[in-house]
Amino acid sequence: MSVSKSEDRFTLVATDVDAALNAFAKDVAVGLTAYPKRLSCRYFYDCEGARLFEEICKLPEYYLTRAEREIIEARAEEIASGFSDEITLVELGSGNAVKTRLLIEAFLEQQGRLRFVPVDISQNTLEESSIGLLETYPELEVFGIAAEYHDGLARLKEMIEGPRLILWLGSNVGNFDRPDAVRFLARVGETMAEGDRFLIGTDLRKDRAVLEAAYDDTQGVTARFNQNLLARINRELGGQFDLARFQHRAVYKEAEGRVESHQVSTCAQTVVIEDLDMEVVFAEGETIHTENSYKYSIAEIDALAEGAGLEVERRWFDSERRFGLNMLKRNHG
Ligand code: AVI
Repeated sequence: MSVSKSEDRFTLVATDVDAALNAFAKDVAVGLTAYPKRLSCRYFYDCEGARLFEEICKLPEYYLTRAEREIIEARAEEIASGFSDEITLVELGSGNAVKTRLLIEAFLEQQGRLRFVPVDISQNTLEESSIGLLETYPELEVFGIAAEYHDGLARLKEMIEGPRLILWLGSNVGNFDRPDAVRFLARVGETMAEGDRFLIGTDLRKDRAVLEAAYDDTQGVTARFNQNLLARINRELGGQFDLARFQHRAVYKEAEGRVESHQVSTCAQTVVIEDLDMEVVFAEGETIHTENSYKYSIAEIDALAEGAGLEVERRWFDSERRFGLNMLKRNHG
C-alpha cells in the first residue's frame, strides 16, 4: 500500500501503481506466449474499462445487474434486521456501489451510523463513488481500499473490529475458475468471526441464448469492453494491436457452466509490443481467451460454500429466478 489520504469521514489507501503496472506487463508477456493465448480479465478495469462496464450494467441484454438490484430492493430491510449489533459494511469489488446504496440506507435506518469499507481495483471509481456516498449520507464514514482482492483482504483482517457484513455482489465470483472461487471464499472465511456474514451474488445457469446475448450485446458495448484490454496494451505497453483486426466472441460452454469471452484474430498477423520487446504471431482465427463468467446451479452454490468451510444460511432470487443472493456464515460444525 503506498498512497494514503485521509479527511474527516473519508480515508483512502491504495496499492502501489508501479507494482501493478509491472504485474500487468508480466502477465501480458506470459499470457501472449502461452498456447492457447490468454489475458486476465482483472486488467479490464482501467478508467475506460470501468466506464464501459458501467454502460454494460445498463444494457437490456445484461440482466444480471437489474436482477440483483431487484432482490436487494426487496430484501435490504430484511437483511439489515438480521443483525442485532452495529456492523461494519465491507464490499469487495464495489465498483460504483449503486446497489449497495440500498443496503447502506437500510443499515443507517437501523443503526443510525455506518462504517463502509469498499475495496476496488479502480482508484478513480472508488474515489468518485465514495465522495458521492459521503455527500448523500452525513452519518456514513468511508474507509476505501484501492487494491486487488488479495491485498484488500489482508488489510481487512488487521483493521476492522466488530461484526461485519462482507458483500461480494454482481456475480464477481463468476470471474474465478471454480477451484479458485472455493479458495477465495475460504480466505474470506478465515477473516470472519462467528457473527460475521458474507453476502454473495451469483448468476444462475440458464438458457444459452440469454447468456450469449448478455455477453455479446447488439450495441457492441461488451465487444468494446473486451477490446479495451488490447487498447490498454497499446496505451501502457507500446502495443501495436490494430483493433479492426480482432473480433469479440462470447460462447457458452454448457458442461463447464461458463461464458467464455475471446478476441479472435480475423487474419494472420504479427503484433509488436514495444515495451515488452515482443512480436506476437497470430494465425487467422486464433483467439486470445480474455474472460470466463461462470454460472451456478443451487447445488453448485452449496458446494462452493461447503468447500470453503462456509454454509448458506439464507438465499433469495429475483422474480424470474435468473440470479441468486446468498447469505453465508462460517460453518463451525
Ligand atoms: C464483473 N463481472 C462479473 C462481469 C461478468 O458478468 O462476468 C464482467 C463482464 N464481462 C462482460 N460483461 C460483463
